[in-house]
Amino acid sequence: MRIPIIAGNWKMNKTVAESVAFVNQIKDHLPATDQVQTALAAPALSLVPMVQAASGSPLKIMAENCYFEDAGAFTGEVSPHALYQAGVHHVILGHSERRKIFGEDDEMINKKVVAALRNGLCPIVCCDDTMGRRVANDDKIHWVVGRILADLKGLTTDEIRKVTVAYEPDWAIGSGQSADPSQAEEGCYLIRQTICDMYGDDVANDVRILYGGSVTPDNVSALMAKNDIDGVLVGSDSLDPETFLKIVNH
Ligand code: 13P
Repeated sequence: MRIPIIAGNWKMNKTVAESVAFVNQIKDHLPATDQVQTALAAPALSLVPMVQAASGSPLKIMAENCYFEDAGAFTGEVSPHALYQAGVHHVILGHSERRKIFGEDDEMINKKVVAALRNGLCPIVCCDDTMGRRVANDDKIHWVVGRILADLKGLTTDEIRKVTVAYEPDWAIGSGQSADPSQAEEGCYLIRQTICDMYGDDVANDVRILYGGSVTPDNVSALMAKNDIDGVLVGSDSLDPETFLKIVNH
C-alpha cells in the first residue's frame, strides 16, 4: 500500500522565526504517519531549527533543492551530505521554478537525484508539463515520459523505490487554476506507466506520485481520490497553518 504524502513547498517565503512558529502551531494536529505522511519544504536557512522544532512529531522537514556534489568549491550551494547530517532526509529536485528561472536541465537534475540518494536523502522529483504541449500534442515522445526517462536515468531498483515524483503542470502552479482531477490523474498515470516500462509493475506500484498546482482545501479530496495520485505538493495554501491543516486533515 502506498501511504499518501501531503507536503507543503514554501518556496522563498518565511523567516526562521516564522518557520519555527508554524511548526509549533501544527505539529500536534497531524495525522498518524501510517495514514498520511506530512512534510514541509522550507528555505535552507530555516531547516535546522525546523528539524529541532518538529522532533518527535510526525512532521518531516524537506529541503527545496541541493547540489550534486557532496562538498567543495561551489559557493552558495547546499550540500546533500550536510542536509542529511542535519536531519533533513527529503529534498525537492527539479521544481519547474528551478528549471525555468535557474536554467536547470534534465542532466543536472539527474545528477542531483543520484547525489541525493547517494547521501541517504529521498528525492521528490518534479515533472512539469505545459498547456501548449497538451494542446499541440506534437512531441515525438510525450514530454512527461521524456522527463521521467531523463531525470531518473540509471537508478537501481532499490533507489527508485526511495523516489517520489510530483506531476506539476506549469499552468496550474500559482495560477489558482488547478488541473481537474482527471487531467491530474492522466499525468500521474503516464508517469507510473513510464516507471513501469523502466522497472516493472511491482516497482511502479510502490512509487508514490503526487500532484501539485493550486491545491486547496476544496480540491484536495477529489484529486487524492484518483488511483494514481498518492498525495499533493502544495504551494500558496501551505503558507497559512490553518489552511495547511485543512488540506492535511481533509
Ligand atoms: P501553488 O500551490 O501555489 O500553485 O504551487 C504549487 C507548487 O509549485 C508546489 O511545488
